[in-house]
Amino acid sequence: MLTESRRRTAVALQGVFGRSYRVPESWDEGLSSEDAALAQAILGLCLRHWGRLYAWIKPRLKTPDRGLPLGSHTAIAMGLAQLAWLPGVSAHAAVNESVLLAADPALGFPAHKGLTNALLRQASKDREGLRAQLDGLPAALDRSPFVEMALSAALAPRKMETHLEELWRALQRPPRPWFKALGNEPLPEGLEPDPVFSEALRLTPEATFPREWLRSGAGMVQDLSSQALMAFAWDQPPQRILDACAAPGGKTTALARRWPQAKLVALEADARRARRLEENLSVRRVAAQVEVAESVAWLRDTEGTFDLILLDAPCSGSGTLRKHPELAWIGDRLDMVRLVRNQRALLEAAIPRLAPGGLLIYAVCSWLPQEGAAHYTGVLEAHADLRPAALWASVFGDQDGATSLFRPDPLRWDGEGFQAFALVRA
Ligand SMILES: C[S@@+](CC[C@H](N)C(=O)[O-])C[C@H]1O[C@@H](n2cnc3c(N)ncnc32)[C@H](O)[C@@H]1O
Repeated sequence: MLTESRRRTAVALQGVFGRSYRVPESWDEGLSSEDAALAQAILGLCLRHWGRLYAWIKPRLKTPDRGLPLGSHTAIAMGLAQLAWLPGVSAHAAVNESVLLAADPALGFPAHKGLTNALLRQASKDREGLRAQLDGLPAALDRSPFVEMALSAALAPRKMETHLEELWRALQRPPRPWFKALGNEPLPEGLEPDPVFSEALRLTPEATFPREWLRSGAGMVQDLSSQALMAFAWDQPPQRILDACAAPGGKTTALARRWPQAKLVALEADARRARRLEENLSVRRVAAQVEVAESVAWLRDTEGTFDLILLDAPCSGSGTLRKHPELAWIGDRLDMVRLVRNQRALLEAAIPRLAPGGLLIYAVCSWLPQEGAAHYTGVLEAHADLRPAALWASVFGDQDGATSLFRPDPLRWDGEGFQAFALVRA
């Protein structure tokens, strides 16, 4: 019988390649930690190398131009990834599990059971050679037009486009999470401050994941970029704060801890995500008024102004390719026009609700200029009463001096790709 770790991996891959779905957060829930680690490794390798895996398979097919049904494609790619890059998996397990997968009428393509068996058995005779062949294929095979666009956009502000391969190699390393302590309790063993941005904590490679510490609300997982972004230098204590796109609440938590006296309203359009936001805030013992609401409509229908508005807008996620390698294969189908229009609508709804002297922070985990820098310019042109607020150290910008446009250098920064800007109302 197919093992659960491989079955889950196949389901996740088929969601991505068959339906353009993101890999759901809960895709490996309930697996033992050993099985989850294996499933994560196979899924990561297949997503990062789907292009070159197919380039290896294609010339070995009887009719290469007809392509492969997704069921057999998944089974063969998973088998090859294990044979080439996971030496701890026996050749027997890698081949047999893929044959079982191909034979599964729901997930595989039973007519290709023999083909799967033949290709993988042949490949298993020289695993080192297979690895060398796959590693020797051009890296560009694993990049979709969306990835090429994201990498160029990441490098363009510093005119570093010739470093595209270097950035791509960095994005191929599996991500390691960042953490933030929320109290004064002693840190779990193995959590250490980052040498550059000491508020952010990293796990030493041999340490175990601090599940209990997170569950108790003493800390949270938060990417380095989000932590650096939320450390913006602003010394005017706000009384009313709005977090307009709040779940799962990492930035809401940062706002509530920094200004515990302020009235904080957190909006979230998706009811399921709003529940998670409430749970997260409750376990972290931070207070906010959570509203399940679409922000543009809420801002139109309610009264009052805010001294600080955070707009962590829905975006393409192009800056998160390292953590979400599936984006490489579904990004080309995103409706960028609609995304950018929604971002601008959120901005235009939020701006009139800024109190005099109030601060607006807009952020997206994307490198694409139309989702960040273009809104910055567009909004400044359209609103004469807004001024850039240089709240981040020069290291986070691409020019000398403190910056109002947060865009860390992707080649020298280990956090996710982010663009953010800060504006104050005169
Ligand atoms: C980038 S995430 C926010 C991450 C969050 N700020 C954090 O740091 O944990 C964007 C969130 O906004 C929500 N959202 C998207 N469009 C929205 C809208 N028009 N109104 C309210 N929430 C929205 C999404 O469901 C998603 O949970």
